[in-house]
Amino acid sequence: MNHLNCISKISILSILILQFFLSGCDEPDPETTVSYTIPEQPEMATGYTPKPGWETTEFAVAAANPLATDAGYQIVKAGGSAVDAAIAVQMVLTLVEPQSSGIGGGAFLLHWNGTDIHAYNGRETAPSGADENLFLDEDGEPLSFSDAVHSGLSVGVPGTIAMLKSAHDQHGVLPWADLFKSAITLAEEGFSLSPRLQNQLVQDDRLPDDEIARALYYDEDGEAHPVGYNLRNPALAEILRNVANEGISAFYSGAVAESIVERIQNHSRPGPMTVKDIEAYPAQNFETQAICTPWKEYEICGFPPPSSGHIAIMQMLGVMEHLERPAEALQDTVPSADWLHQYLEAAKLAFADRNRYIADPAFVDPPGESWESLLDDGYLEERAALIGETSMGEADPGEPALVKARHGIQPLQPDKGTSHISINDRDGNAVSMTTTIEQGFGSRIMSDGGTGLPGGFHLNNELTDFSRTPVDEDGRVIANRVEPEKRPRSSMSPTLVFGKDNGNLIASLGSPGGAAIIHYTAKAIVGMLDWELNAQEAIDLPNFANYNGPSVLEYGRFPDEILDALKARGHEITLQDLTSGLQAIQRTADGYFGGADPRREGVVMGD
Ligand code: GLY
Repeated sequence: MNHLNCISKISILSILILQFFLSGCDEPDPETTVSYTIPEQPEMATGYTPKPGWETTEFAVAAANPLATDAGYQIVKAGGSAVDAAIAVQMVLTLVEPQSSGIGGGAFLLHWNGTDIHAYNGRETAPSGADENLFLDEDGEPLSFSDAVHSGLSVGVPGTIAMLKSAHDQHGVLPWADLFKSAITLAEEGFSLSPRLQNQLVQDDRLPDDEIARALYYDEDGEAHPVGYNLRNPALAEILRNVANEGISAFYSGAVAESIVERIQNHSRPGPMTVKDIEAYPAQNFETQAICTPWKEYEICGFPPPSSGHIAIMQMLGVMEHLERPAEALQDTVPSADWLHQYLEAAKLAFADRNRYIADPAFVDPPGESWESLLDDGYLEERAALIGETSMGEADPGEPALVKARHGIQPLQPDKGTSHISINDRDGNAVSMTTTIEQGFGSRIMSDGGTGLPGGFHLNNELTDFSRTPVDEDGRVIANRVEPEKRPRSSMSPTLVFGKDNGNLIASLGSPGGAAIIHYTAKAIVGMLDWELNAQEAIDLPNFANYNGPSVLEYGRFPDEILDALKARGHEITLQDLTSGLQAIQRTADGYFGGADPRREGVVMGD
């Protein structure tokens, strides 16, 4: 208590000084205890920028953008908890990495308080007026994926702010309002447009269709503002100030809720969301039960459905435990062909199950009445027996708990966006949070929150994580079809790893990347725990994926010898960029070691 009082006095002094410089003679907010200083803004190229890995002793914050990481760093420095820091990071990401996550989207948060795990589900929900025909045209044919995304139909009721408030009520230390200070300051003062955001603005030919986005990100000639441009977002500053001071009702009712609905309903392909849908969102229990699964000498904890992430990761790793370990798994810094063959085949089996079974548990029962049936060791041993010396092509789903499935199989749909945050605070609390607006810039619809000011925030297209069609080719209903107030299936895989014997926290990690999140996260788990690499080395490993079809390997990262060996085993190989955005923090004897993905702009900070 004394400690907090002391921080409070020192920081009130700093805020008075900061406010004097930033806003002239405005009265300081007596509630505020945290000051925020805009850091130097490093210039980082997008593409592949090697990262050093970061050693810290007392705490560590890892996020996808240096300004967001710094916001979390300053909060922990000021005495904040891991959850406090995660909130500050998320608010800054809304501004500086708007293509990936934000207050218009949803998130899953895992929290470790030194003894227990709490899981918070802030997934978007389908409006009450949505049904299984949401993405069908007047002839009953599914809209193209692009038409479904770029529409009011795809927008789910945003969940991130309400979920974070629920986590803050339980694990917050600093006042809620303080956690918005960094984002409000940056939104008002402006921040330097990063190479990655700028590149995405240039590439995206649909975003300029939205009048708010066009005025915010592009000049009068329709050219994206250049790298280093000082981007201000006054509408977002105003919205965040209101949420900071009045609470989440300033987002889930009144002008913001009305503006979201107005933008969705006035789109050329309008969606069914109403103000009532938005008002109803906060009145729910955000807490759910994490799933923890033993693997080797570890206990790996992740998110339950509607995420498919943890179950798929642990199915793959569990199946591989039943196969003869290859003589060589890692050749220098590249997984061997023998190891990749086993992994890619295990991935086919896991994705076949994912596409049949995983959906929102509020609507769909797990096979054998427990999601654990998909992770049962006997079941995984049966599945492993299907893996031979050559590629199986495509896998069929299995029958966990010997249950005859009644659901059909959802075809693969592209999904790409998202961001990951890992934080360990000074008191031993940890957060692993993955957060999304789905595609880059979501539905490409922005809301100014009814402020009438330039800028605003992006509305998600999370509902395209549902199956676009309610039935499969054989006419069987798909578990992950749209239903009113249902949450779409996710691949987000926030993960916390513990020692099986002592229960000590070992690592926190996760990644963006759509369905490939599952593979990126699995790769980093294997790299750190099985191949004994540090977090940075594990993240740097080349990426690989299989969604129950051709194998996808990271372009330019695998020698011909490995590609040829996989082809000789019958694998169809596609080479792609596979832009993971892993962030991971490992506990070490001296503190923490953090890694951030060289494929994006993330960094780790701490003392
Ligand atoms: N939209 C990314 C995910 O939830 O998997």
